[in-house]
Amino acid sequence: MPASLKWLALLLAASFLAAMTAGAAMYAETRARTRVMAEQVSGGGTVAAGRAAIARYGCGSCHVISGIAGASGSVGPSLAKVAVRVTIAGRLPNDAEAMMLWLRHPQAVAPGNGMPEQGVTRGDARDITAYLYTLK
Ligand code: HEC
Repeated sequence: MPASLKWLALLLAASFLAAMTAGAAMYAETRARTRVMAEQVSGGGTVAAGRAAIARYGCGSCHVISGIAGASGSVGPSLAKVAVRVTIAGRLPNDAEAMMLWLRHPQAVAPGNGMPEQGVTRGDARDITAYLYTLK
């Protein structure tokens, strides 16, 4: 290979690496921003704790929830893009307080609906809300 081609190949490889690194950094930054915003909107919940709580309560047995291992249930609606829906279960405006109310007392909000009361604590409801608000 002529020397000039080697340089060209090297230059291409270097710019490819730079682009990949920049892409990865942007991706990480977007994810971090999404997390911080969701935690703020939830009023102080923690996304990581919410993920753990969702696994603990077994929400995935009824819902598809991205980022939660094995969450592929089909009893309830998929929670894909739940953060950008206008309403919760078609009944409540989709804000943090209403989400926490729904998570803690779905039977009080809509008696007889398919989502059971699970004794979700206030703190867990806040963390779960933070997690759900990253799903957009
Ligand atoms: C036994 C099944 C079941 C379990 C367990 C369950 N849900 Fe549900 N969930 C439902 C059903 C059914 C609905 C739809 C209610 C309706 O619209 O009448 C629902 C609705 C919802 C909604 C509203 C979705 C929308 O499209 O507006 C959210 C959010 C939600 N559930 C989150 C959770 C979370 C978080 C957990 C775990 C703490 C959980 N659910 C556990 C069955 C379940």
